[in-house]
Order: sequence, then C-alpha cells, then structure tokens
Amino acid sequence: MAGLIPRQFIDDLLARADIVELIDGRVPLKKAGRNYQACCPFHTEKSPSFSVSQDKQFYHCFGCGEHGNAISFLMEFDRLDFPDAVDELASHYGMEVPKEENNLSPGEQLKQQKAYRQKQDDYELMGKISSFYQQQLKTADDKDTAVNYLKGRGLTGEVVKRFGIGYISDNWDGMMNQFAHVNTTQQLIDLGMAIPGDKSRPYDRFRGRIMFPIHDKRGRVLGFGGRVLSDGTPKYLNSPETRIYHKGHELYGLYEAKQANKQLDRLVVVEGYMDVVALAQHGVNYAVASLGTATTSEQLQTLFRTVKEVICCYDGDRAGRDAAWRAMDNALPLIQDGYSLRFIFLPDGEDPDSLIRKQGQAAFEKIINQSKPLSEFLIEHLSAQVDLNSLEGKSKLVDLFQPYLNKLPDSLIKDGIITSLANRFVGGVEKQLIELTKRSNQVTQKKSVKVNNKATPVRFAIALLLEHPHIVKALPDITILQQLHMPGIELLNQLLTLCHNKPDINSAQLIEYFRETPQGNHLSKLMFWQHGITNEAAEEVFLDSIEKLLNTFVEQRTEELLQKGRSGQISPSEKQELQALLNA
Ligand code: UTP
Ligand code: MN
Repeated sequence: MAGLIPRQFIDDLLARADIVELIDGRVPLKKAGRNYQACCPFHTEKSPSFSVSQDKQFYHCFGCGEHGNAISFLMEFDRLDFPDAVDELASHYGMEVPKEENNLSPGEQLKQQKAYRQKQDDYELMGKISSFYQQQLKTADDKDTAVNYLKGRGLTGEVVKRFGIGYISDNWDGMMNQFAHVNTTQQLIDLGMAIPGDKSRPYDRFRGRIMFPIHDKRGRVLGFGGRVLSDGTPKYLNSPETRIYHKGHELYGLYEAKQANKQLDRLVVVEGYMDVVALAQHGVNYAVASLGTATTSEQLQTLFRTVKEVICCYDGDRAGRDAAWRAMDNALPLIQDGYSLRFIFLPDGEDPDSLIRKQGQAAFEKIINQSKPLSEFLIEHLSAQVDLNSLEGKSKLVDLFQPYLNKLPDSLIKDGIITSLANRFVGGVEKQLIELTKRSNQVTQKKSVKVNNKATPVRFAIALLLEHPHIVKALPDITILQQLHMPGIELLNQLLTLCHNKPDINSAQLIEYFRETPQGNHLSKLMFWQHGITNEAAEEVFLDSIEKLLNTFVEQRTEELLQKGRSGQISPSEKQELQALLNA
C-alpha cells in the first residue's frame, strides 16, 4: 500500500504538519528548553522522558526508545497502519491523499478522486444514520421496549452510549424518511441501508431492531448489525458488503477497545456483538468480535499489529473448535517471538456474555489467563487424529505436523513446539523428529540493531545532516565521497543527495525516506544522539568530518594505486593521479 501514496505527497504532508500541535492534541505537552516534554504515552512513567522537537519535527522517548515523525506517531498512538496514518494526518490538515503514483490517465485520476470523495460522503452519511438510531433510543414512541430490552441484558446507559448502540422502530421507512433525498436514495441502497423494493420504492433494511454500529479503526461507521428484540428471525441482520464495508477486514469493538485503553496489551476475540458489549459492561474492555466469519488473515494481522497477545474465545462445541482451528491456521504465518495466540473453549451452553454476567470480571479473566497456548492446541488437536500407542501413529503425527510447522516463521516458539513434541512422544520416531527439526527449523539469529554511537566522522556527518539538513549547502560538491569505501558511507551519500535535491527538507521528511528499511532505525537513533555539538557549531563540525573522510579517501586511493604500481598493473592516467595524490 505504501507505494501507492506518491512520495511527493508524503513530503508535502510532513512539511505542512506540525508535530507539536498534533501530539499536544492527544498528549498535553510542556515546553522544556528548545523542545517539548510529556510523560511518555507508550510506557508507564512518573517523570517525563518523552521529548518532541519542533525543529526536527520528531519525537523520541529516552525511556522506552519510541521515536518517529508525525506519521509514526499516529501509527503508534492511534494504532493505524501506514496508509491510514497518512490519511488521518492529511485530513487533519485538509489535504487529500492522491493514490497511485504514476501511469494514471487524467480520466482515471478523476475517477479516483471521485471515488475518494464518494467514500468521505459515505462515511458522513453512515455517521449521521448512526446518530439518528441513537437518538431514536431516546425519542421513538416505543423506545421503552428497546431501553427495557437493553436493561434486561444488563447494560447501563454509559456502555450503550460508548458503543453507540441505537434503535429503530418496526416501520418500513423510519430511516428513509429522514435520509432519502433525490441525491441519497441510491447511496443508501449502495450502503446496504435500503432495499430497492419492487416498485422502485426503496425501504429500510433494518426495522424493529437494536442497532450496533460497526466502526473502523478510526471510528468511522461502516455498517450495522441489528438484533431483533424478541424471537424473530434472523436474530441478527448485518450490513452487506459495500464499497466501504468488508466484514472480513473489520473487527467489531476494536475502535471502542482502543478508545477505552491508553495502552492495549491484549485482545480477546469473541463471536458476538453482545459478547463484546457485555464484557465491556463488566470491565473487560479489550474484546472484539470477528463479525460472524471465521477470523480471517486480515483480521489477525490487524490484531497482531495492535497487540502482542491475542486470545480467541470460542464455544466448546464442534463449531467452536473448528472456528478456532481455522483461526489458528490463518495466524500461523504471523506468529513471531514475543507474540502469543491462545485459545479458550467455554463450557457447553455458555458464551462470554452469559459467563461474565453470572461469574463477573475476575472469574472471566481467570479463565483467560488459563487459556491454552497455540502449541498445546496444535499438539492436542493433531494427536487426537492418530493412535499414539503405535509406532505408525507417532510417525503419522510427525507427518501431520510438518505443514503447520512450515507455516510458522523460524522462532523460539517453533523450537518450543518441536521440543514439546519430542518430549511427549519419544520412542521410535526420534530420527524422524530430528529430521523434522532440521527441515523446518533454520532459526535465523536475529541480530539486534544496536547503535554504537562511537564518534566517527561518518557518524558525525550523518547525525548533523539529519538534524540540520540545510548544512549540505556548505559543501561545494556533494559527490566527493562517492568513491570512498567504508561503513556508513553509502548512507551518508544517500542523505547528501536527498538534502541537496530538496533544499527545504526537514529531519522528519528526511527520515521518512527510510521507513521500514534497515537504515531507518539506525538513523532515528542517531537523530537523538547526544553528541554535545551546539547548533552554531554544527556546520563547522560537519565540514570537518567531511574533510576527515576526504583524507581517508586520499589515503585509501593512494594505497590502492601504490599496490597497482607494485604489481605493474597501473595505467598511465592512474600514474598521474598517484603523482598528484603524493604531492598533495
Ligand atoms: P449468536 O447466536 O451466538 O448470538 O451469534 P449472540 O451473540 O450470543 O447473541 P445474543 O446473545 O443472543 O444476542 C454470534 C454472532 O453471529 C452472528 C452475529 O455477528 C452474532 O453476534 N449472527 C448470529 C448473525 O449474523 N446472524 C444471526 O442470525 C445470528
Ligand atoms: Mn449470547
């Protein structure tokens, strides 16, 4: 996705953005010297080590190491992915994100712009309808029936409001009466809110139902689930797939969970709307529902982007186990060290709603804490398919495991699964297990990116350029280091070119070019390297570092040419060059 947003737009957006204002709107900042400070929103602390720099348009926490520009902040704080964070930042500054860098004809571009505006309009209309449903809970003639139903299910007004739950009476046109105009009728049909009907008289899809709005990560209303008040069918009616709503991508309650928790550590995935709401009512503010589908890969990706610990909570029956197995299968490729996926199977006839109402928050959380780890679930499920008393059975088990292990990225978790398989089922199949381990377990030693801020000229030059991109102007020729070979020099050359080509670039824009590259992390750390060089001295130290690098180049080149001379492979022009170098 990232590639679809033109680089130039990201540059412009970061030039427009003011990170101090942006962060201050979410985490109140205090001025402290040149920078702004607050207690870090990304870890718990008593004294402020979170620092925001207006000049660099960058934040950094000296406590936990979180850092980044305005886009990174929105990604971390609002838990958005990159395109959404860009979108959010753009809309904050009234800018429109163009999509698709190139190859688009003007006609196609226009089409895209129209689609973009259409969506904005759709979100707005859905938001208004949601407000209308909420208001109906207060004003409809039969509002008491609805309010009593919600009360009967143990919900207080506060939770009903937090989830934006509403109501619509049983009429054909309760919503259409309010919202259908010449311009909106088709839109309401497109958004699944109205059904076209036979005689071209569209009518309300949702009638006589408690309405649960489905929000996206940013709180926009995409669709609804509506529950009947009595025994009618279907029990729940859901919005169909529309141009803004794709149920396999969304998680009911995720937005509300993010709103309720400054820091989310784990999420529980349950099956129903009411389960999510009832859990929140009883203090478990970290439940989401997968909207009537088996939990999809997209949903799992969203979950693991948001938290490291995901607990899937299903019914204990066959359907629940199947749903869990499918979720696990989808999750395997996403499991890395530090991330955990666990499972709970509830007693027959219970769902999270009934359970927490009977037993309360503590009991429910106790169950969560005893949930089955992925490895155990996997082993139990597969073991049940073979006869472990026979050698053939054990051998078959090892075979059954292979495809699942292959889906898991190399990790300590994977090691653990293989070890526990070996520990449980030794006897006769050891050789096969060793084979299995070899085949699927080439654990790559992840090298941690540790920045060694030793004060070398390359580091100085990079750090100062990052902080003060304009000092590149002091350099008469930015290509002078291009033949030099030493660690970091390639990155320095890249930065020199960027700063040279974009004379007004700031630190935050500069570092944006390196998002998700191995150098990005390194650069972010250098940005906050406390090297003690004042702003006034920056240019001088920068030029001095470059000069040191040039001297190194002269030495390197001289040595190289001397070597060539000794082996008799030096060309006449190289000879001249060597002379010049030796005389310099
Ligand atoms: P359940 O039948 O388990 O309902 O469906 P529930 O959540 O416990 O509902 P209450 O407690 O009776 O109100 C679980 C989920 O399956 C989807 C809904 O998303 C529901 O929350 N579902 C169920 C439908 O979409 N349509 C239905 O008719 C039933
Ligand atoms: Mn239920």
